[in-house]
Amino acid sequence: MVDSSILPLELDNVSYEIDGKRLVKNVSCCFEAGRSTLVIGPNGAGKSLFLRLCHGLLQPSSGLLRWRGSDGQTGQRQAMVFQRPVMLRRSVWANVGYALSVKGVSRAEREPIINRVLQCTGLSRFEDIPATRLSFGEQQRLALARVWALSPQVLFLDEPTASLDPPATHQVEQIITAIQSAGTRIIMTSHDLGQVQRLADEVMFLHRGRLLEQTAAEQFFDCPQSDLARAFTRGELLWWHRKNPLHPPGISKEISR
Ligand SMILES: Nc1ncnc2c1ncn2[C@@H]1O[C@H](COP(=O)(O)OP(=O)(O)OP(=O)(O)O)[C@@H](O)[C@H]1O
Ligand SMILES: [Mg+2]
Repeated sequence: MVDSSILPLELDNVSYEIDGKRLVKNVSCCFEAGRSTLVIGPNGAGKSLFLRLCHGLLQPSSGLLRWRGSDGQTGQRQAMVFQRPVMLRRSVWANVGYALSVKGVSRAEREPIINRVLQCTGLSRFEDIPATRLSFGEQQRLALARVWALSPQVLFLDEPTASLDPPATHQVEQIITAIQSAGTRIIMTSHDLGQVQRLADEVMFLHRGRLLEQTAAEQFFDCPQSDLARAFTRGELLWWHRKNPLHPPGISKEISR
């Protein structure tokens, strides 16, 4: 049997800069198959840029990013959902159908796949209405249905539940769990630490463009390795500037790096 897994994904000293400003700094890490990773950190830490680099939407300014399956096909086997997904101005059904047609799935094969993902995301009853009329939470579910239809090996999700209320968040988390159970490797960002505890096998903690920690979720919440991560989990990481009297004690060394 041919093993066509594109994982692991390895990053070796990856940096990304814009106008001479380094926004992602010397990140080295590895994503193995079969786990879920939640990328966390304060606003502006570089989480979205990091995800875009991994997805291939941005190219590293220096360093190397390597998928195991470097046969030029990795783009077909990994997908990304953005915080504000763009809906095509056509029906819910056609939104999923279009994603499949772009991937080259024949018309006859599309129908059962579309039916399945719309049912699994609770959107069947909306299938004929324009996607742009859906609520924000429903649009987020449709974005997940569109990528689920493609059965990617790896799925990057950038804050998929930001601005959703608790019931909508719960629905989206259930969908993410189902996508993962179907065999997709999840790598996502979140600001919701409760959600991180519910969904993460491992946690990556970014701060000012640096990866400070990549550990098993349980270990991260029991005993974060860095003072900054500890402060972040306690909600104490209010501001990074070392002169700020509000920053927690004992983290000046990490902050000054
Ligand atoms: N195109 C750009 N030009 C200049 N600076 C940028 C650009 N894109 C991002 N940045 C900066 O890079 C830093 C990291 O941005 P990024 O969006 O990755 O942060 P984030 O961790 O996702 O934050 P949030 O939690 O608010 O989503 C920020 O300071 C941001 O202002
Ligand atoms: Mg972001």
